[in-house]
Amino acid sequence: MSEVLLLERCEPSLPFAFLERLESLFGDLLDTNRQDPVKEVSLTSVAIDLLKTLMKRSVFSLNLFRLVSGRWVVCHTANVSFIVGSLFVNGSFPYAFAVQGMKAVILHDIGHFFLKSASVEDDFDEKKDNHRLHPVLGCKFCVQLNLSADECDAVLYHHERFDGTGFISRKGKTIPFYARIIRLADEVERLLMWCERTPADFLGSLLKLRGTVLDPDLVGDFLGTFGPLPTGARVSWKGETLVCRGLDKKSGKILFDTESGDLVFVPIEHFAKKK
Ligand SMILES: [Fe+2]
Ligand SMILES: [Fe+2]
Repeated sequence: MSEVLLLERCEPSLPFAFLERLESLFGDLLDTNRQDPVKEVSLTSVAIDLLKTLMKRSVFSLNLFRLVSGRWVVCHTANVSFIVGSLFVNGSFPYAFAVQGMKAVILHDIGHFFLKSASVEDDFDEKKDNHRLHPVLGCKFCVQLNLSADECDAVLYHHERFDGTGFISRKGKTIPFYARIIRLADEVERLLMWCERTPADFLGSLLKLRGTVLDPDLVGDFLGTFGPLPTGARVSWKGETLVCRGLDKKSGKILFDTESGDLVFVPIEHFAKKK
C-alpha cells in the first residue's frame, strides 16, 4: 500500500483503510440495483466517520495519496475529503453543515466514473470535454439521489474560479461555499503533486491563486489549519535541517522531525516573518 503514499516515511493523511471504504462506497453508489435511500445512508455514514477520524487528529499534515492510475478518483477524493474535512474540524463548523459538506466533497468528481476519465488531467485540463461535463453529470447524480440543493450546487460549481472566468462564470462569493472550498482542496492537491516541495515554492504558488482562482478568505483558513509549509518540506533551524510533519493543533506550532529522529516544535511566526 505504501506505493500509494506521497511521502513514504510519514503517516498518511488518512488511514489506508479509508481508500478501501471509499472504493466500496463508489461501487455501491454506482450500482443501479441499489435503492437511492440506501445509497444516501451509506454516503452519510462515510462522511460522519471521516469527520470523527479528523476530530481525533492532533497534527494536521499533508501527506496525501498519489493519484495512481485506475484508482485516481478514489485517491483524489480521499485527499480532497481530508483537506476540506480538516478545515471544517479546525474551524469548528456546525456538525450538520460539516456532514452536508463532506457528502458533497465525496461526490464532487463522481461524474468522472460515467465518463470513464483516464487520469486526473481530465479533471484539470479545461480543454477536455471530461472537464466540462463531469460537474454536470455529478450534479445530475446528486439530484437523482435526492440530495439538498446546496450539495448539488457544490458539485455543479466546483470548477468555478473566484475571479469569474470559470466555466459557468459565477464570481466571488456568489460561487456556493462548498464549491469554493472543494476548489481550494483540488488546487492544494495539484500543487503538492506537481510543484517542488520547497516552502517558498508551495506557499508562493498558493498565494498566486488567491483572488484569481481561489477565495482569499479560504486560503487564509487553509494556512491557519495546515501552516505555510507542506509536509516533507526541509528547512534550516538553529544549524539543523528539519523536515516538516505538519501543524500541531494544540500548540499552534509547526512540528518537525530532526535528522536524528527527534521532534521539534517551531512557532509559526518564525516562517511568517521570513515571508
Ligand atoms: Fe472535478
Ligand atoms: Fe476534484
